[in-house]
Amino acid sequence: MCGIIGYVGELDSGGQTDGGAVDSVGAIVHEGLRNLEYRGYDSAGVALVGASSGLTVAKRSGEVDGLTVPDVPDATHGVGHTRWSTHGPPTDANAHPHTDCAGDVAVVHNGIVENYEALKAELSDHEFTSDTDTEVIPHLIEEELAADPDADLLAAVRRVEDRLEGSYAICAVREGNDRIIVARRGSPLVLGRGENASFVASDVTAFLEHTRDVTYLEDGDVAALSPDGVEIVARGEPVEREVETVTWEADAAEKGGYDHYMRKEIHEQPESLRQTLAGRLDVDAGDVDLDVSFPPGFLADLEEIRIVACGTSYYAGRYAARLFEDLAGVRATVEIASEYEFGAGRTPDRTLVVAVTQSGETADTLGAVRRANAAGARTFAVTNTLGSTVTREVDGTAFIRAGPEIGVAATKTFASQVATLAMLAVAVGRDRGALGAADARSVLEDLRGLPGAVQQVLDEEEQVREAAREYGDGEAFFFVGRALGVPVALEGALKLKEISYDHAEGFAAGELKHGPLALVTPETPVLAVLTDGARADETMNNVTEAQTRGAPALGCVSAGDEYDTLDVSFEVPDVGVVEPLVANVYLQLFAYHVANDKGRAIDKPRNLAKSVTVE
Ligand code: F6R
Repeated sequence: MCGIIGYVGELDSGGQTDGGAVDSVGAIVHEGLRNLEYRGYDSAGVALVGASSGLTVAKRSGEVDGLTVPDVPDATHGVGHTRWSTHGPPTDANAHPHTDCAGDVAVVHNGIVENYEALKAELSDHEFTSDTDTEVIPHLIEEELAADPDADLLAAVRRVEDRLEGSYAICAVREGNDRIIVARRGSPLVLGRGENASFVASDVTAFLEHTRDVTYLEDGDVAALSPDGVEIVARGEPVEREVETVTWEADAAEKGGYDHYMRKEIHEQPESLRQTLAGRLDVDAGDVDLDVSFPPGFLADLEEIRIVACGTSYYAGRYAARLFEDLAGVRATVEIASEYEFGAGRTPDRTLVVAVTQSGETADTLGAVRRANAAGARTFAVTNTLGSTVTREVDGTAFIRAGPEIGVAATKTFASQVATLAMLAVAVGRDRGALGAADARSVLEDLRGLPGAVQQVLDEEEQVREAAREYGDGEAFFFVGRALGVPVALEGALKLKEISYDHAEGFAAGELKHGPLALVTPETPVLAVLTDGARADETMNNVTEAQTRGAPALGCVSAGDEYDTLDVSFEVPDVGVVEPLVANVYLQLFAYHVANDKGRAIDKPRNLAKSVTVE
């Protein structure tokens, strides 16, 4: 994730349109970072530029409030960054801004430069001081400026852009230059148009107290900001972009205009999934680079993968276990972490225990990891949180890179956990020779299509809102699916019960007739996963059994398929093995709108906590 902010303006005019206090460039940038801290909070930094003081950079690991912003009275503009680590641990050196060798250019960045290793190799005569992908950018700018001393910073950033692969939002400043140059591809960036002042940020929240007039940049846009306004260039040509007026109040603004963090996080999934996948898929080669390693021969001799997790992470594990068996040709089991023991009949040195935990701090999961370590098994974590306890106790870690999740109900982290575990399954399958290149390519293509497919579902939110209005008063809700649809049904039920307090249960669809069918009435809507990977036709038979008892039926159906008898059909784009995961986004939205119609405390449901650090 990460949050970025930039400000250039005349301080004596206030640079303000809405009454926000403007003391100094540093104060504005620091305040903007506080407003953006929900996007990351493991490091923070600023770069300030003054006519005679030049470029001043201050950065450190830790939260925004711990950063001392230097007093630079002549600063005319500056940029800031709050970090959510993806490449390199949260240290002072890895904090942004990053600078070039001469210390003239400073850059803040949100996103991932996928080809940074290749670029670093090309910059072999430059000295690097961090482990980040970002640091190549100021060095590339330095190189472009050295090659053409007449080029200005805007021209240099445009040329550098051509060399970057991946997703990014960038702000660059240079000593002796009076503008901020920004560029966007795949990561959000919005401009604020104040009176004699311009702002840029990952989110309007950063500068809303100063101006409500904003311009959303589009992918491929590069812009130069000065106190007089902004100049935007797209594909080499100057362009005009619409100026919109934001009407939210400050409280809504903290949530990026959404009423709840949970809905915001549901909507962030295309972006968070892009970050999860960035730089890790080599679709043509049918390979994955998760930057993890195992001892030689370990994967080939592997007897069993045992996933341990709780709650939503446990359901992500259930999804993954099927993928490990199908793609990696290895027995995979999932156990609720608080129930886990290293059972008899297993060989520790041929078992991989995978802890799935977004927080990395769940006591039950840590307990399971400790029991696995004590038994002598190899342990591995899949987590969202760099530096969390679990990462210090396992032999290896893959980060899901979903960005901070504030709503108590897990949404985007579930999607990113499943995507990361799917990549791990491909990597293990390829290493073991269980998965051919063509089959791997097909899975990786499905994964590549995931962010776009999730966006298509989000675009259908109105349909879900109406369904929630029509069926949200049910006495109970049953969620069903088969195969990869089972963990999604379980997760759909958990989400609804957690935030709406309605009785909801998830089942393997085939189990309905073995008992739960006794509960089915016209007042108990059934929600079904009817996609690829979820044995849709067989599931539909069970849905029909419930409909025969009067239950309304809502189904998430693969594009192109039709089940005419469904009361509501939500279309799921064609992404093969991850279609049930995309269907889950409909279930998240359904839970959200049912709970919202009932006025529940969605972000902080009663009795629950985000991180459960007691056993
Ligand atoms: C449900 C939810 C919880 C967590 C569980 C494990 O929405 O968030 O069920 O999934 O407490 O948490 P982590 O993944 O942090 O170990």
